[in-house]
Amino acid sequence: MEEYQECNIMILLDGKKVALDVRNEISDQVSLLLKNGHKRPHLAAILVGNDGASQTYVNAKVKACKEVNFQSTLLRLDENITESDLLAEVERINDDSAIDGLIVQLPLPDHIDEKKVTQSISPSKDVDGFHPVNIGKMVLNLPSYVPATPAGIIEILRRYNINCSGKHCVVIGRSHIVGSPMSILMAKNSNPGNCTVTLVHSKTKRLHEITKMADILIVAIGKKNFVNEDMIKDGVCIIDVGINRVKSDKTKSGWKLIGDVDFDAVKNKCSYITPVPGGVGPMTIAMLLNNTLNSAKKEIY
Ligand code: GUN
Repeated sequence: MEEYQECNIMILLDGKKVALDVRNEISDQVSLLLKNGHKRPHLAAILVGNDGASQTYVNAKVKACKEVNFQSTLLRLDENITESDLLAEVERINDDSAIDGLIVQLPLPDHIDEKKVTQSISPSKDVDGFHPVNIGKMVLNLPSYVPATPAGIIEILRRYNINCSGKHCVVIGRSHIVGSPMSILMAKNSNPGNCTVTLVHSKTKRLHEITKMADILIVAIGKKNFVNEDMIKDGVCIIDVGINRVKSDKTKSGWKLIGDVDFDAVKNKCSYITPVPGGVGPMTIAMLLNNTLNSAKKEIY
């Protein structure tokens, strides 16, 4: 693909298409593993309670496993489970050599210490890449599981051949899952990477002035239509991580998804943009599958 140039012809970054390509490549790798006498990669997911969004996400992960011929195990636990019982389940899966990857869907009920649970997962099975050992290794450029959403954004930038080197990347949001790891990956001496990175957040002063300096703007703040045309410069490449559900009288369900960026307001000013839906979202599950494949192939540990 052509290297990107700063001009006003906007190109949609089709995450749905890239995710499909990644998943097809994973399927091929699974076929190869099976042909060589290996077992199918196996992802286990723990879901605690009945949160609607979490159920939707976990079901989508289980379905995606099926589509690439992975084995999956979904462990649904009562929302009143004690922390120690949950930790015992994690321990049991850590010790099960038939399982390659384990995720515990977040958020967890208030009576359970999320950090304690995340840290109880064996780093070698932590395909979410949330364990401090994996975060530390990622920072130090050692082989590790990289959190799926930032890994998916890197994959989009790579496959669209977006030139990041020497560019100013502004990341909005400092979550452990997206903003913080994203800022680290974009600053790395790698391609995509080699950016000058600024991370801004809710306490940042004169945020508009900083976002206006971005060549690449990655928005993960969780506020619908937060970024508008007055916050960006001409030719910026925008990655919109937001998934916000809003009422709509144009859909059958009465709901639609919109991002953290006001798409219609910025579309004539940017060079590239990820749509919502169909941009970053589909990449998250694809990269979780990729981490699980790497675990099965013992690529990381
Ligand atoms: N909750 C929201 N995103 C994620 C994710 O990527 N992994 C897990 N385990 N929980 C989440």
